[in-house]
Amino acid sequence: MSDRPHLEISRGSLSVGGFEAKDLAEKYGTPLYVTELDRVTRKLKAAEDELSSRHPDVLIAFAYKSNSTPAILKALASRGAGATVVSANGLRLARAAGVRARDIVLDGPSKSEEDLTAAVRMRIGMINAESVQEVLDIEEICAGLKVEGCRVGFRVNFGILADTHAGLATGGRSHKFGVPREEVVEFCESHASELRRVKISGLHSHVGSQISDPSVFRRETEELLALSDELSRSGVEIREFNVGGGLGVDYGEGKEMSLSDYADATAGTFARSASKRRSRLVFELGRWIVADSTVLLTKVNYVKRAGATNWALVDAGMNTFLRPALYGARHRIVAASTKDREESSVVYDIGGPVCETTDTFGSGVSLGVSLSKGDLIAILDTGAYGTAMASTYNMRPFPKTVVVSGGRHRLAPPAT
Ligand code: LLP
Repeated sequence: MSDRPHLEISRGSLSVGGFEAKDLAEKYGTPLYVTELDRVTRKLKAAEDELSSRHPDVLIAFAYKSNSTPAILKALASRGAGATVVSANGLRLARAAGVRARDIVLDGPSKSEEDLTAAVRMRIGMINAESVQEVLDIEEICAGLKVEGCRVGFRVNFGILADTHAGLATGGRSHKFGVPREEVVEFCESHASELRRVKISGLHSHVGSQISDPSVFRRETEELLALSDELSRSGVEIREFNVGGGLGVDYGEGKEMSLSDYADATAGTFARSASKRRSRLVFELGRWIVADSTVLLTKVNYVKRAGATNWALVDAGMNTFLRPALYGARHRIVAASTKDREESSVVYDIGGPVCETTDTFGSGVSLGVSLSKGDLIAILDTGAYGTAMASTYNMRPFPKTVVVSGGRHRLAPPAT
């Protein structure tokens, strides 16, 4: 595929980073996530180049929730990525991957005392608070641990509704995320100066995921800039601006924002504000960095007919890859290794082994060939929120991941 150079797809066969899907499936078993690691690091570099050409101090704090396979996290950390995490365990993973404490961000609308305590102890770069109470809690934890100068930001809710699936939008006024803008202003005017150990120095916003309209990011960036100007009048100086993640990918709908449009809307908008030149601009990208690095290989167990429908029933289920069942997401599916290579116009509905009607990956899918028992198909672009949301539901094994890099492949165990 021209836009996915690590994949070679021909009728009835697929290779990833030079390795035949069939050989990988035989060696490691299915269902199997296969990640081409160099694709991940190349995307990180592309984003870094594009963003830092517009603003000198940029950090891409990879969103660990999108993929937490340690081999992938290490590859990203060794090339300068920071980490956005949402739990104490995430903090530990980031340190184990080699991320410097100052390049770690802790987010989350309902952090536990354990999460906050671990972050304070580690002296991470920024804790983004999602309520005034959380700021006060952090102050108390700092007092208990005798920590000073703890950097805290506000995740602000500006009421920006993004152009995405309702389940992936987080910026609405009555969503559970962030602190309303007015409340941030009120707190900073009246109480920020009473904080002894916490230093309010960040502003953060994340309005959703899988966004394809640059104007959403432009508006978000402008709101953050305007708010920081307002706060500086009450003596609160913002040093770190965090525009969240959310840059979408094209799963097949033909909708994708270019990297340069994204960079213009965020870093470009930011760079026009000369007074912010010395501030750090943080991006919590997850999906865009890892999604297209990975295919999910799954074996056909049965092909059968139900009414007018041809079912291909495979060994991956919603426990392996949840996005289709959870959001009705549809990913491209290709034939990865089939006995029959004759061109065929037969279409399939693809279903998994789990006893749930939503345990399907596509309907009316044309693979260009016909399928039979033992064939392999691949679900594309499963690197983000694939293994990350996998489970052992129905007592099925947790899916394995293989990473391919520099002409080799190896098993990459999941985070524990
Ligand atoms: N920052 C925050 C505060 C977030 O909540 C998220 C994702 C990100 C960054 C990373 O967003 P990304 O760049 O990956 O879009 N399970 C869903 C996606 C849920 C996203 C949750 N938050 C899916 O499979 O589409």
